[in-house]
Amino acid sequence: MISIALVVAAVTTAIAYFIDWLPEQASEERQGIDLVFWVTVGICIFVFAVVASVSIYAGVKFRVRPDDESDGPPIHGHTGLEIVWTAVPTVLVTVIAILSAVVLAQNDRAKGTPIRVDVLAQQFAWQFTYPEHGNVKATNLYLPVDRSTKLILSARDVLHSFWVPEFGQKQDAVPGIVTTIVITPTRTGEYRLLCTELCGAGHSLMRTRAIVLSQAEFDRWAREQREGGAAGDGGEADAEGTFVSTCGGCHVLEKAGTAGTIGPPLDDVGLAPEDVEEQIRKGGGGMPAFENELSEEQIEALVLYLTGPGR
Ligand code: CUA
Repeated sequence: MISIALVVAAVTTAIAYFIDWLPEQASEERQGIDLVFWVTVGICIFVFAVVASVSIYAGVKFRVRPDDESDGPPIHGHTGLEIVWTAVPTVLVTVIAILSAVVLAQNDRAKGTPIRVDVLAQQFAWQFTYPEHGNVKATNLYLPVDRSTKLILSARDVLHSFWVPEFGQKQDAVPGIVTTIVITPTRTGEYRLLCTELCGAGHSLMRTRAIVLSQAEFDRWAREQREGGAAGDGGEADAEGTFVSTCGGCHVLEKAGTAGTIGPPLDDVGLAPEDVEEQIRKGGGGMPAFENELSEEQIEALVLYLTGPGR
């Protein structure tokens, strides 16, 4: 019976392991996180398969026959079994705890000199500030590849949580305290950046992109931002990006493909540019002020995007 159970457990664990469930690995930290994940999930699947197959086997083999009305044998405990089912879980939980602690400590350490990004979370948008690059602000998270970035997270209103599945690392942004997280991207590309803490009606729309660039491209991006030559990345495309990540969580706008319902829809409202600018800067009527959140260029680009030709 036990050998059948072990075979079933081994096969189930192997099947689970060889199916490609997880998103691609795009950071050094993900490797440790995946290790902890697979050790923990592997143990769970193995134990579950053993218990389930023994239960099913026993249920079939020792079931009551139709004409059997006798009592079972009187059994009172089994010291050997008690020791086994206390000792085995203790060992497993201890292994998981030590492994997790080692990985957490490792993932908290930046490699070399990290760049710093201040992350501000608020209902329902992310803002990234680069203090080493003239406090350049962005609504997408730009990172150089193969170099550690230290994110310093804060929240303006309620709890939020920073997560890029491909990077693995996850951290809460908590009002009143500062939390940190280290990310060392290992491949260039664009990844989804999500809020994973239910933070209000716009939570599911509080998402933007993490964009990993080569060090040279990153330096060029930072320089262009600092020189203020472009609104964000420049032009209509970026005004749309700013709109999607900053405003889309709360407003419907067909051309940007956003569907937020916290604020009024912005199609067919015919607003004057001065009013739109005033509203973005000062907020009001339930909308936060964005004067200090967006650069002058971004505000200008948004106003044009919302009121200019092509509207
Ligand atoms: Cu912010 Cu969910």
